[in-house]
Amino acid sequence: MSKKKKTDVVLKKSVVGQMAEKVKAEAAKAEEAKNTAKQTVKETEAAAEDASKKAEEAVKDAAETVKEAAENTAEAAKETAKEATDVDGNPMSEEISKALKDSFMEAYKKQTEGELEDELDDNVMILCENLVKIYKTKETEVLALQGLELRVEKGEFIAIIGSSGSGKSTFLNLLGGLDRPSAGKLYVDGKNLFKMTESQLVSYKQKTVGFVWQNNARNLLPYLTAIQNVELPMLFCEPKERHERALELLTLVGMAHKKDSKLNQLSGGEQQRIAIAIALANRPKLLLADEPTGSVDQKTSDAVLDVFRKLNSELGITIVIVTHDINLAKKVNRVVMMRDGKTSIERIMKEEFVKEQLHGFIEEDTHEEYAILDHAGRVQIPREMLDEIGVDSKKIRMTVDGDKIVITKA
Ligand SMILES: Nc1ncnc2c1ncn2[C@@H]1O[C@H](COP(=O)(O)OP(=O)(O)OP(=O)(O)O)[C@@H](O)[C@H]1O
Ligand SMILES: [Mg+2]
Repeated sequence: MSKKKKTDVVLKKSVVGQMAEKVKAEAAKAEEAKNTAKQTVKETEAAAEDASKKAEEAVKDAAETVKEAAENTAEAAKETAKEATDVDGNPMSEEISKALKDSFMEAYKKQTEGELEDELDDNVMILCENLVKIYKTKETEVLALQGLELRVEKGEFIAIIGSSGSGKSTFLNLLGGLDRPSAGKLYVDGKNLFKMTESQLVSYKQKTVGFVWQNNARNLLPYLTAIQNVELPMLFCEPKERHERALELLTLVGMAHKKDSKLNQLSGGEQQRIAIAIALANRPKLLLADEPTGSVDQKTSDAVLDVFRKLNSELGITIVIVTHDINLAKKVNRVVMMRDGKTSIERIMKEEFVKEQLHGFIEEDTHEEYAILDHAGRVQIPREMLDEIGVDSKKIRMTVDGDKIVITKA
């Protein structure tokens, strides 16, 4: 090999060597960069993980705080609701209202369990104490009777008066066995209506009470004659006996002469007398009439009242009538006034008027008025009386002055 060629080879070798060195160095640098990058990624990942953990914890903490706050608020709301009810008598929280209602009903049920034997003598036809009727509908509960008290003797004739919604029809329906009392005591002719079974109630309705409504349509069939209408409730009797009894009843109410008239050929008062005859078909001991003269004129009303009076004095049937007719109420021995589901005032006819038969309009004061004191010592004071002495709060002063109890403005 020539010298020149040798030198070239040596040169080339050294160039290659240098280049290789450079490449190595570059590779080392790349490796280092890669490691640094890896390290950075690791660190970044760790940091990210850490950050995410911290974020998670923070969220948890926040949730915990929110939950706690919510619980505290709910608790506070409950407390507020309780306090508001107790102090102000505002609409009660459900729990409290239920508890109160339960204890109220419990107390009444306990009372109902005990019999009123000592007061249930042979002379009493109706006896009720603390009588309660609650109508429940989906939305509301109506306290239609709230502790009504009344005693009616056998053979008495009383009228019940009171403003619309005071519970008159509700009371009559309970007496007639058409509806059940919610609580309290109710006896008619010695029978405890609160404890009656369904079959006892059916028999009670057939044998003990008769019912007359204001609306004739409820009692009568217009396409039948007067006597056919009266015979209807006696379908179980022999035809001959049924006919004779119907005629007897029509005579009693002064309608025998119209026995073959169709109902639509009769006047309102005449129809009402047929209705009374029907109510008497089963020989009831107690006759109940809900506004029997509500849809007839004064003269007819008087005629209907005369029929009732005759039934009462001649047959001894106990009669309770509900009426708006103040003139009618003046002619009845005892008038009971109802207010807010309770009997509040009684008016008893003065002796001198009991002896005469009362006809037509009477100017004089025929009755003496008494407030009713119930078993718990409660008396209802009419709003007008309170207004007269200027009572405008819920408190009054009561003092005893000799043989009087005096009520004054607080
Ligand atoms: N079936 C029922 N369901 C719910 N509430 C009732 C029902 N019957 C009566 N009430 C309510 O009970 C209360 C007493 O009603 P009730 O019919 O006894 O009065 P009333 O004294 O006969 O009135 P009116 O002179 O107008 O005939 C009222 O507030 C009435 O709205
Ligand atoms: Mg009514």
